[in-house]
Amino acid sequence: MSISIKSPADFHVHLRQGPICELITPHVRKGGFDLAYVMPNLKPPITNTEQALAYKAELEKIDPEVEYLMTLYLSLELTPDEIRKAKKAGIVGKIRGPNGSELTGVKSYPRGVTTNSDGGIESYETYYPIFEAMQEVNMVLNLHGEVPSDAAANVHVLNAEPTFLPHLFKIHAAFPNLRIVLEHATTRAAVEAVNKCGPTVACSITAHHLALIVDDWAGQSWHFCKPVAKFPDDRQALRDVVKEGHPRFFLGSDSAPHPPHTKSTSSPTHGCAAGVYTSPILLPLVAHLLESFGALDKLEAFVSTNGRAFYKRPVKDEKGSRTVTIQKTTTGTLVDAEYALGNDRLVPFWAGKQIGWEIVH
Ligand code: DOR
Ligand code: ZN
Ligand code: ZN
Repeated sequence: MSISIKSPADFHVHLRQGPICELITPHVRKGGFDLAYVMPNLKPPITNTEQALAYKAELEKIDPEVEYLMTLYLSLELTPDEIRKAKKAGIVGKIRGPNGSELTGVKSYPRGVTTNSDGGIESYETYYPIFEAMQEVNMVLNLHGEVPSDAAANVHVLNAEPTFLPHLFKIHAAFPNLRIVLEHATTRAAVEAVNKCGPTVACSITAHHLALIVDDWAGQSWHFCKPVAKFPDDRQALRDVVKEGHPRFFLGSDSAPHPPHTKSTSSPTHGCAAGVYTSPILLPLVAHLLESFGALDKLEAFVSTNGRAFYKRPVKDEKGSRTVTIQKTTTGTLVDAEYALGNDRLVPFWAGKQIGWEIVH
């Protein structure tokens, strides 16, 4: 059996920077994807147009076939003026840089919640003038939907996402026409919240959160990511909404590679790095998972059509666009144990495990 998918799009991926970026970036297409919505949490974070365009140029040098949609890290450095400049230039849906390149979204990270998020936001109201300008020019706000842990308030990794949801409702109510994506949802509460919002609010779901529950990362550092995988009933809600083919739910892999020594550590002061690496196996992995819960007929909607419709990025018959065919394997395909380039090594999700699908080359 084989399935053909039009131009798969990953609407949330970490491609990093420096030498390791050269190992990671080609894995977008290796994993079957033509479009990468690139996260800005570098060191230092991508906070302005120039940085984003320079980063995009680096990525294009590594693999020019991928369409990279760049994002900015929401910070006080970002001004409504910078966003409105784009409007004056007659652009809708993105900020256009001097050479015609594009910035598509603004990514928000609550302070201290995840990798390189120390410079993240504290109060969303502070940014209302920016949201106003974004709404005006039709940019997308990508929300990392967790509040920071706070032991005194009984906030911890398992309830950080549900505790965040009132912020989503509040921002949506204040800016009903602002397109918002609640990123990497992991709970039934988040699925229900997005469902309740209007057509301007969507939700990305990762492959790994369709696979994992809390038991799978408690004691298995390679499965540790933020937000952490939750309870079986939460995973069921994610699977159900994918199986339903709900148009406002789509794949954002949150593929987030970390060097092995930062994943497996016995340091008493530094926990293991959060993130799983799914890019190199992404399309076969998603097919394998959707098949496991009877949603294979929604594969194209989940990995291409739905996200492309929300972001207004329809498949074009241009450079980089293609139809990707996957086939079911009778014996299974072994996930590579690791990938290496120079001194860098990375271990993918499900290393050494069999996946039931492979890309036809
Ligand atoms: O698991 C995660 N890894 N969650 C995040 O929010 C950030 C990401 C990363 O950049 O490593
Ligand atoms: Zn995030
Ligand atoms: Zn992410």
